[in-house]
Amino acid sequence: MTGRPAGAGIAGKRALVTGAASGLGRAIASALAGAGARVTVADIDAEAAHAVAEEIGGETWIADFSDTDALDGITLEADILVNNAGIQRIHPLEEFPLSEWRLINRLMLEAPFLLTKAVLPGMYARGWGRIINLSSIHGLRASPYKSAYVAAKHGLMGLTKVTALEGGPHGVTCNAINPGYVMTPIVQRQVADQAQ
Ligand SMILES: NC(=O)c1ccc[n+]([C@@H]2O[C@H](COP(=O)([O-])OP(=O)(O)OC[C@H]3O[C@@H](n4cnc5c(N)ncnc54)[C@H](O)[C@@H]3O)[C@@H](O)[C@H]2O)c1
Repeated sequence: MTGRPAGAGIAGKRALVTGAASGLGRAIASALAGAGARVTVADIDAEAAHAVAEEIGGETWIADFSDTDALDGITLEADILVNNAGIQRIHPLEEFPLSEWRLINRLMLEAPFLLTKAVLPGMYARGWGRIINLSSIHGLRASPYKSAYVAAKHGLMGLTKVTALEGGPHGVTCNAINPGYVMTPIVQRQVADQAQ
């Protein structure tokens, strides 16, 4: 095989990974740090975020990304943005609380939009940027009782496509990842809910 080694070009880049204190985000943050990126571990869980940052030699940004009013209008300097923070709530549609629907959609759709908005001016100025949105198989397919999650992930696919179209001419790519089940705390926590 020819080509550049994995991680080539990442050394020295500033990477912001949301939900990086656990699961997939932690693995992504660790891989980026391993490739030489300067990683910010952004998470609501301060203790776990500090532990990951210490482990990989990164910085932390402790924040509740469902508080989207606080993200509106901010500017961020990052070369790589990974929108990964996520949660799950399981209810039949006719019982789904509006508060939980809004929480999921703020955290998993509005926050990625606002963080993208915050990093794009700097990426455009430098002519380079990478935005990676952690979607899900539920960005492509549906399951019962997960209306908020499935809607947010489908919305994130749309945001990804528009960001790719607008960013491309400026050297900014945007891609989504659509994993199936990976045994992390988000999955472990929903086993009982799903059984019920
Ligand atoms: N695990 C899977 O099977 C699976 C499959 C497909 C997609 N995904 C997606 O991958 C992403 C990561 O999931 P995971 O499995 O690693 O979950 P996880 O529960 O292990 O990690 C989620 C992280 O997000 C953080 N977080 C939660 N609410 C937050 C908030 N309000 N503000 C800031 N941070 C917050 C948590 O503290 C945690 O560190 C999610 O977007 C999820 O939807 C996971």
